[in-house]
Amino acid sequence: MLWIKAFHIVFVVSWFAGLFYLPRLFVNHAMASEPAELARLKLMEHKLYRFMTPLAVLALALGLWLWLGYGISGGWMHAKLALVVVLIGYHLYCGKLVKTFAADQNTRSHTFYRVFNELPVLVLIAVTILVVVKPF
Ligand code: HEM
Repeated sequence: MLWIKAFHIVFVVSWFAGLFYLPRLFVNHAMASEPAELARLKLMEHKLYRFMTPLAVLALALGLWLWLGYGISGGWMHAKLALVVVLIGYHLYCGKLVKTFAADQNTRSHTFYRVFNELPVLVLIAVTILVVVKPF
């Protein structure tokens, strides 16, 4: 069980590297205008999203294994799952934004993406407290 938990944490951390960096690319993209820079950002966003999606799947699969395979649960787990659903929605919305930027159809400002970039931070803090402290 501990090996599964160890790799669950490894893939969670790797997934979050993408969840923190991809919106940062959106901030830069919303401010960019030079064609070469726009092309470079589109390529980076596409590659990063393609790289971070399997990491998300592995993090979630190992988490489900811990929960359903070993029956580790409680009120904290249900609250955690609700936040995980928010995180999956955020990840999929980032995928939609990658396509929007690739088609040069973004209409939102860099300020919007700076705020958007903070959501995973809040979810990470809340989930970590729930799973380590197990307050309920
Ligand atoms: C389908 C989604 C997920 C499920 C079912 C799940 C389930 C679990 C379970 C059952 C444990 C073991 C808890 C224990 O042994 O006390 C665990 C550990 C952990 N999970 Fe998840 N998890 C999921 C997603 C996530 C996500 C998205 C994060 C980060 C935001 C996360 C962070 C952690 C951490 C840090 C631990 C280690 C806690 C400890 O060792 O005390 N998990 N997870």
